[in-house]
Amino acid sequence: MQLQEILYTQGFGTRRVCAGLVQQGYVTVEGAPVDDAFADFDAVDGLAYTVQGTPWIYQSKAYLMLHKPAGTECSQKPSTYPSIYTLLPAPLRQRPNKGAVQGVQAIGRLDQDTTGLLLLTDDGQFIHRMGSPKHHVPKVYEVSAKHPVDDAQVQKLLAGVVLDDDPKPVRAAACEATGPNALRLTLTEGKYHQVKRMLAAVGNRVEGLHRSRIGDLALSGELAPGQWRWLAPSEVEALRQRK
Ligand code: URA
Repeated sequence: MQLQEILYTQGFGTRRVCAGLVQQGYVTVEGAPVDDAFADFDAVDGLAYTVQGTPWIYQSKAYLMLHKPAGTECSQKPSTYPSIYTLLPAPLRQRPNKGAVQGVQAIGRLDQDTTGLLLLTDDGQFIHRMGSPKHHVPKVYEVSAKHPVDDAQVQKLLAGVVLDDDPKPVRAAACEATGPNALRLTLTEGKYHQVKRMLAAVGNRVEGLHRSRIGDLALSGELAPGQWRWLAPSEVEALRQRK
C-alpha cells in the first residue's frame, strides 16, 4: 500500500494532507525516513512508523482499551462533561470509514461518574457482536455503597431483582461483598444504569462505580485514568470467541 494511503487509513487526514506529511519529511517507517508519498509498504498489522516523532503501529482495525476517568461522557456530543473522545489522539478520532471520517467508537457506555475499563474500536461487526444479547460477556463492577452491604442484599442480587422498565428480573452472574460498604458485581447484560438501579432495588445506593474487567480482559494496572492502550490481537480474539 502506498505510504500516503497507509497514513490516510490510520486517520492522519485526507490523502493530500498525508502526502504532504511524507513529502515534508515528517514520516519514518520501521526506523527509516521516507519522503516518497507513493513508496509501497506491506500494510501488515504491527508495521511501525512515526509521524512528527510520535510512534504508531499500523492497525487495519483499531481495538483499544481506555481507563475512563470520572467526569467524562461516553458521547461524541456531550451535554455537560468533556467527551471521552477528547482523551484520544486525533488520528484515532479521524479514521475513515467508507470515505467518511468516523474514528473509533466506545463499545457500550459508562455513566459520567463511572470509572474504569472501556473498549473502543472502529470494527462495526465487533461492536455489534459485543453488544448482542446473545453474547454474554461478563462485566465486573466494583461498587462503593452508601449503606452497609449485608448477605440479604447479596442473595437478592444473585436471585434477581425487578427494575422499573421490565418485569423480567435481572440477576447478577456473581456478587460478593468486598468490604463493609463495598461489593463486586458481575453482569452479563448492559441495561441503562443497571448497577445503580439494582443496588437501589435492594435498598442500597451506589456512591462509586468502577468497571474492572470485561471477559478475560482486566483494566491494565499501568493505565492511569485517562490513558489508553492498543489491545493485543490475542485479547481481541479472546473477546470475539466468548459465547
Ligand atoms: N451500571 C450503571 O449503573 N452505570 C454504569 O456506568 C455501568 C453500569
